[in-house]
Amino acid sequence: SAKASEADGLKTLSPALQAELKALEADFTVDGPKLKHISQRFEEELREGLEKNGCNIPMNVTWTLGFPTGDETGEFLAMDLGGTNLRVCWIELKGRDGETVVTQEKYPLAPQIKTGDADALWSLLAESLEHFIDANHLRREDGEALPLGFTFSYPATQEYVDHGVLQTWTKGFDIKGVEGEDAAAQLTEAMKKRNLPVRLVALINDTTGAMIASAYNDPETIIGAIFGTGCNAAYMEHVKAIPKLKTDLPGDTPMAINCEYGAFDNAHRVLPRTKFDERIDRDSPRPGEQSFEKMSAGLYLGELYRLIMCELHDKSLVFKGQNITALRKPYILDTAFLSALEDDTFRTVRTWFEAKLNLCLNEEEFHLSRRLSEMIALRGARLCICGVAAICRMKGIQSGHVAADGSVANKHPQFKARWAQAMGEILDWPSDRKEDPIVITSAEDGSGVGAAVIAAMTLKRVEEGNM
Ligand code: GLC
Repeated sequence: SAKASEADGLKTLSPALQAELKALEADFTVDGPKLKHISQRFEEELREGLEKNGCNIPMNVTWTLGFPTGDETGEFLAMDLGGTNLRVCWIELKGRDGETVVTQEKYPLAPQIKTGDADALWSLLAESLEHFIDANHLRREDGEALPLGFTFSYPATQEYVDHGVLQTWTKGFDIKGVEGEDAAAQLTEAMKKRNLPVRLVALINDTTGAMIASAYNDPETIIGAIFGTGCNAAYMEHVKAIPKLKTDLPGDTPMAINCEYGAFDNAHRVLPRTKFDERIDRDSPRPGEQSFEKMSAGLYLGELYRLIMCELHDKSLVFKGQNITALRKPYILDTAFLSALEDDTFRTVRTWFEAKLNLCLNEEEFHLSRRLSEMIALRGARLCICGVAAICRMKGIQSGHVAADGSVANKHPQFKARWAQAMGEILDWPSDRKEDPIVITSAEDGSGVGAAVIAAMTLKRVEEGNM
């Protein structure tokens, strides 16, 4: 079997490498009891975040009030500022039974934008929007503004749905002049400068978008979770269960909460951080923040592998006598690379190494790499699900669908099975179960369709005079 030949492959490692691998495996393994312990602490931090401001996990209120009915219709612009791309969409919603039509275009987000200043960011967004509107002839003859749902997937304090003060940049972004400011107002300003016929109706997080877009089609949706560049989830809470929120809304009003749980355990109480995790944190633009995310999200998986291999090279155990300059470059390896290591043949992987890293990979290094990538991705998946499990425990959720999106959830083949396995260990599901009571599904397009549905829900509320 494949497993057996893997084990045979590992036997070919030199004794020194076997010893290194053993130590790494010990550091990177998170067993069932440890997972339970982490998710118990997780539950406490989720509750603290609902209680008061200034905790590790912000538990941001989003002013998305309840799930969609499925009757939402209309035409909307949606713009998604993700980690790697900028995406603009035109979305025609025709209700749950109709067919949603999406027209979209991606605009590149140059790396310098991510560390530049606010002006450059917002001008680029407005310019891309203008290009999209003109290319698709979306201007209305009566000059009426087109409604826009803006997906801004960073922690934001929202006093209402079309407002969002950036708390801190995450996922390696470091743009000056946005933290502490209202991102919705800054974008609106840039659109005004260009005279765009656009009105920002809602600022949303990708997790809320994933939950709402999925619930639009699938009423069993309970949580929207992202396992991509970052790691986070949203769920629905009752206003009365959010003590920190001062509002006149009735206590039983549902309110979507964007947890921002990438910030779990920033005080370093329970997560088993290795020296490689510490190194990633130290070298990041925001040391001390997003502790949980830095151990589990896609942005960091390839980086962990890279740091380990550099260290083994420095101990003269891998790529002996080779020039590893390319491998020394931070963040050179993405999630796709890591999942290829787990799944592709020696021949394919060797070609990748040559092309991308200018390195000649031998069979021993291949077997080692495969085991390391599996170890890193497995830890990521097992840790990441602790957040989802903690939400379910806190809310007493017994069944339903967790709508998952993001590059790791979608492109990493083993990911969902690993998630489900860890979920069962934490929640004590019987090992001989036929079906999982809580199922991880593939989310609908949250930052496109989700943004449009939330914009539609908002406009309907305004029309009905409820704020
Ligand atoms: C980061 C962001 C969060 C987002 C997540 C997934 O954790 O802070 O807002 O939901 O990445 O993209």
